[in-house]
Amino acid sequence: MTARNADLTGAAGGTADPGDGDPLEAARVGRQVLDRTGTVVVGAEDPLRLALAAVLAGGHVLFEDLPGLGKTLAAKTLAQALGLEFRRLQFTPDLLPSDVTGSSIFNPATREFEFRPGPIFAGLFLADEINRTSPKTQSALLEAMAEAQVSAEGTTLPLRRPFHVFATSNPIEFEGTYPLPEAQLDRFLVRLRFGYPGPAGERDIIARRISRRQEETRVESVTTADGLLRLQAAVESVGVDDDVIDYAVRLTAATRSHPAVEVGASPRGSQALVLLGRALAVLDGRDFVLPEDVKDGAVAVLAHRLTLTPSSWAQGVAAETVVRDVLAEIPTPSTAPHG
Ligand SMILES: Nc1ncnc2c1ncn2[C@@H]1O[C@H](COP(=O)(O)OP(=O)(O)O)[C@@H](O)[C@H]1O
Ligand SMILES: [Mg+2]
Repeated sequence: MTARNADLTGAAGGTADPGDGDPLEAARVGRQVLDRTGTVVVGAEDPLRLALAAVLAGGHVLFEDLPGLGKTLAAKTLAQALGLEFRRLQFTPDLLPSDVTGSSIFNPATREFEFRPGPIFAGLFLADEINRTSPKTQSALLEAMAEAQVSAEGTTLPLRRPFHVFATSNPIEFEGTYPLPEAQLDRFLVRLRFGYPGPAGERDIIARRISRRQEETRVESVTTADGLLRLQAAVESVGVDDDVIDYAVRLTAATRSHPAVEVGASPRGSQALVLLGRALAVLDGRDFVLPEDVKDGAVAVLAHRLTLTPSSWAQGVAAETVVRDVLAEIPTPSTAPHG
């Protein structure tokens, strides 16, 4: 089996050394990405900043919200601003794992089977309505996300670098949906919600659509796939003080002893808190993490990693509320000033 298009499987756009990355430069690029994305997506500054931070931290993003709130638009626009090749796949009940990953096709000319890469060989892959497809297809996607590679018919192909998945899912469990199991949910660095725009935001959405005279939107790229690798390297160069690590560990541990929680967040959760905190620091032009960075990301990082007790579930307690309780309960460390 041969990869039909080697370019699809290697690092996109050359082999530039990502280098160390400079937090100030990274913050400048990040600001531009958010500014451009904000020219198209109205009133989603917070989720977009967290989504960008998750990408800078090398992670995947779950948008959980009702249809029609701009999730697809946000993913597509961020991909454009970041210079990543965007592919979207609608997850339906009959979707097969090979529709995601690709499959081998017999080529009569060469008399060989050739691997035809699926849409997951993209820079930013949007798995739309992931909870509408079967657990088998979900797990093929999540396996590829965890391992950054696809195994098909005895061959293993690496996915692109950078490679990010944005998935959308509907918060209401309709008939015929398959909610993601907790063990797979925590493959997503963050879960974000958009919420309804205010009336002014909604008018703005309509006004912008009228003035652009077409449905299609497009923003110019601020960077490239290689540029994104440099931003990610900047995140890797951010130091973290012991008291900030300790804070992330305490917050995560407190989710495990909260009375409404059956199973709290694992060390993958505390790790994710610090990772996202480093990316938020970079977006702020700093090379060190403040406790506020951990706080800012806590709901997005931890809420989807909690299993509530059956009784608190029945009472409609939200996992977000649990994380807010924990934030209020655990004292914020006062970090020493940095030079
Ligand atoms: N926050 C928003 N900013 C700009 N346009 C929006 C926003 N929310 C919804 N829209 C518009 O509404 C439509 C639905 O958006 P879409 O991204 O497809 O929603 P979703 O993926 O959440 O179902 C699109 O035409 C989009 O232009
Ligand atoms: Mg959509």
